[in-house]
Amino acid sequence: GQYINFTYSNQHFSNFLQDVNLAKHGRSKFGKGKKVVVEFSSPNIGKPFHIGHIRSTVLGESVVRVLNSVGYKTIAFNYPSDSGTQVALLLVAATEFKDFPKIKNEKDMLNYYVEINKRIEQDETLAEKARKTLEQIEGGDPSLNKQLAFIRDISLAAFQKNYELLGVKFDETSSESQFVQAGKETVAEAVKKSFAFKADTGETVAELKEHGLPNTILLRSNGTTTYLARDLALADYRFKKYKFDSTVYVTGSEQKLHFQQAFKILSLLGRPYASKLHHLPFGLISLPEGAISTRAGRVVFLEDVLAQAINAAKEEIKSTRKTDYSDAEINEIAQVVGIGAVKFATLRITPEKDILFDFKKMVSFEGDTSAYIQYSYVRAKKILEKIGKINSKVKFEDYVFNGSEKELLKALQSYPVILEKAAKDFQPYYVANYALDLASKFSNFYEKTPVIKSENNEIHIRAKIVELSAAVLKDALWHLGIDIP
Ligand code: ARG
Repeated sequence: GQYINFTYSNQHFSNFLQDVNLAKHGRSKFGKGKKVVVEFSSPNIGKPFHIGHIRSTVLGESVVRVLNSVGYKTIAFNYPSDSGTQVALLLVAATEFKDFPKIKNEKDMLNYYVEINKRIEQDETLAEKARKTLEQIEGGDPSLNKQLAFIRDISLAAFQKNYELLGVKFDETSSESQFVQAGKETVAEAVKKSFAFKADTGETVAELKEHGLPNTILLRSNGTTTYLARDLALADYRFKKYKFDSTVYVTGSEQKLHFQQAFKILSLLGRPYASKLHHLPFGLISLPEGAISTRAGRVVFLEDVLAQAINAAKEEIKSTRKTDYSDAEINEIAQVVGIGAVKFATLRITPEKDILFDFKKMVSFEGDTSAYIQYSYVRAKKILEKIGKINSKVKFEDYVFNGSEKELLKALQSYPVILEKAAKDFQPYYVANYALDLASKFSNFYEKTPVIKSENNEIHIRAKIVELSAAVLKDALWHLGIDIP
């Protein structure tokens, strides 16, 4: 029942405010000399970028930014899939439908995908043809591979548009088909090392039961590689190329077992980097019924999701703010608030939880939203604008910080620690929640503490607090990929 209370002195806060470097607060050498491959987004060629890929993309980009700020070197890696059944089906469609070569974009492609799936239901032989096609692609058939390249280019161009909308960049994009040959060699190595074997039915199977995991197929009976076999080769390739200190795979929770198996097999193969591989799993995003026009089947395009959020933001601005903003200005603000809202709703909760997008709530200026944080930032800037130039030679000696100032300053001071923790655990939601907390401490501060109407010396000390708050709010949002209006 005994305890000691520690209280920060005024001196402590004065020192902090005088010493803090506005441009560098939050930057550290924590991860200096360490390299991390962050693999994220990785959509499927021939299919639209779906909502799960939005989550991976937003999450991965944020992980990259956080790691960079605290000194890690990062490689943002995109691993699109161009080896699966969906690709084989499209190639079958290419021979089944004469006008197929005329497709221009992912939406045309989706129509063929839907069409060929319908045909397959009526015609069994087409499924067999798809299996054969996959075998021929892996065997290096030149004309099929040319068609595959055609499809891949269309998809990659469509993905690129999405990345631009989201402000995301990659250092390397290498797709699955590049790892087919090496995958086969790695499987041969596993057979040689006697933990993979050829089953009576023809498949090559990894024996993982004695390691507490279900056995899994590496090669199909016709010799084609599985998703897992290609992942083994991918890991080797990345280690050879980047000599990473760790790799994080940002992929849905439904692939947990897949990665446990892949990491186990790599460790059985004796790869020195096997213990440096991490899976960052995430849950599902669902959308409110009827919120999005379902133009092509049940598919939801990223542009639709963003447009929905931007519209909700426009409504919110018009209904809650009496402004003399022009339509153009409202559009501009709605853009930043709407896109920010989608990212924030994705990032503020633990990745494994499912999310239901509620656009109206997401863009509200009150509550657990990025709009609230953006609003706090703008508010702070307005105060600074009214004050004008801050006097840097203020006298701190006799200044006594009040409770709301101390709470705010403590939060501001902890910013670098939050970033380091978020980097260490690959968890941007720490930063999102921190930003919310900071915004609320900032509003508590300006409710309780007059800034503009304070005394000569005081006004400059308080202005410094406001200035730092604005800088950190903006910087925290930047780590989530969110702009400020
Ligand atoms: N393309 C896969 C999907 O959409 C994700 C790939 C994840 N990365 C990996 N190395 N297996 O589900």
